[in-house]
Amino acid sequence: MTKLNEIYKCNVCGNMVELTHEGKGELVCCGQPMELLIAKVKEEGTEKHRPIIKTDKKGILVQVGSNPHPMAPKHHIEWIEVMDKKDVCHKYLKIGQKPQTFFNAEKIKIARAYCNIHGLWKN
Ligand SMILES: [Fe+2]
Repeated sequence: MTKLNEIYKCNVCGNMVELTHEGKGELVCCGQPMELLIAKVKEEGTEKHRPIIKTDKKGILVQVGSNPHPMAPKHHIEWIEVMDKKDVCHKYLKIGQKPQTFFNAEKIKIARAYCNIHGLWKN
């Protein structure tokens, strides 16, 4: 049984999906069950990954890491997502840009970010 907004990854081909509607079935890709990604919250190592939510006059800024996370081709934040009471907003980042983005959202309940090496993080 899946749950709304869960994120699953195929460990063979790298496909990643986010649940937009719950169902009873198991998600399968490349002939095997997809892995449910559990967002980490506790920092480890020197690179920081937890999304930090800041309110700014331009909107809500979500920055990845208390020290900005690398945005190099081999190691970067692929996307940042925020959820408020009813909506989900997902923004993709580009190599070389700062690991942050603005959202036009009200009160954010959860912010998540995905690092291509260290996986899924939330705050
Ligand atoms: Fe990372």
